[in-house]
Amino acid sequence: MIKIKDLKFQYSGTNFYALNNINIEIPKGKYIAILGHNGSGKSTLSKILVGLYKPTEGTVELDGILISKENLKKIRKKIGIVFQNPDNQFIGASVEDDIAFGLENKRLSRKEMKKKVIFYAKKVNMENHLNKEPQNLSGGQKQRVAIASTLALDPPIIIFDEVTSMLDPKGKEEVLNIIKEIQYNREKTLISITHNMNEAIMADILMVFSNGKLVASGDPQSIFANKKIVKLAKIDAPFIYKVSEALKNKGINPTYDKNKLIGDICK
Ligand SMILES: Nc1ncnc2c1ncn2[C@@H]1O[C@H](COP(=O)(O)OP(=O)(O)OP(=O)(O)O)[C@@H](O)[C@H]1O
Ligand SMILES: [Mg+2]
Repeated sequence: MIKIKDLKFQYSGTNFYALNNINIEIPKGKYIAILGHNGSGKSTLSKILVGLYKPTEGTVELDGILISKENLKKIRKKIGIVFQNPDNQFIGASVEDDIAFGLENKRLSRKEMKKKVIFYAKKVNMENHLNKEPQNLSGGQKQRVAIASTLALDPPIIIFDEVTSMLDPKGKEEVLNIIKEIQYNREKTLISITHNMNEAIMADILMVFSNGKLVASGDPQSIFANKKIVKLAKIDAPFIYKVSEALKNKGINPTYDKNKLIGDICK
């Protein structure tokens, strides 16, 4: 679904590559978590994936379409993004308008459109705020509307760039449940850039960035077992992983089925 080949990216006015020789292939329907210290290049990658920045070298394809100026319209149909800061992500005058915005090209009747808007507003628990102006919402509420607007566009690939970092614990949990639901249904290829280790361990594939390079990619458990990577990326293994390792040291071999865990939460 996503094919990144020999990608390099340098911001103008800098003398280093923010992304240096990245090669990644992501299959359809997978849930990818990306970890990495501040400045490691995660957001730069997400902006390249949505066509906001042009690679300095190398190529990126989404579903067989090369990301280029000419293909931008096609690319925008393939991928949706939600940024860390929900400000400046709004187009509509009300929450309802904002969620509806992406649906306007879909030739739906007014009734169908309204039904869809309510459906996505409910998904993010914002159905009681449809008439409010987005500017007057709290940070967490804004973020949830931004997520609903992106989901309403129904792109096959979604990127969440640290969407939970500005949310309170309840907001974080709600967004995490949306992520789990997307993953459980296997409808979309989901890339979630996160500093939340409890989220990272749920992913199908965990990718770790450090200083513009992809330093690890694979099953989250085996990555957290690699002390060198954990140190290099300035990350800390999640609590559930540490508990299971401690039990193993005591001769108990605990197992937790990631997919079952996700399934239970989505029921
Ligand atoms: N507009 C810009 N102009 C110049 N350099 C930039 C620009 N944006 C980012 N950078 C630099 O590029 C590198 C990668 O930044 P990026 O925002 O991709 O990091 P990140 O991994 O998303 O970090 P964080 O976890 O803090 O969000 C950093 O060294 C950063 O200072
Ligand atoms: Mg970032």
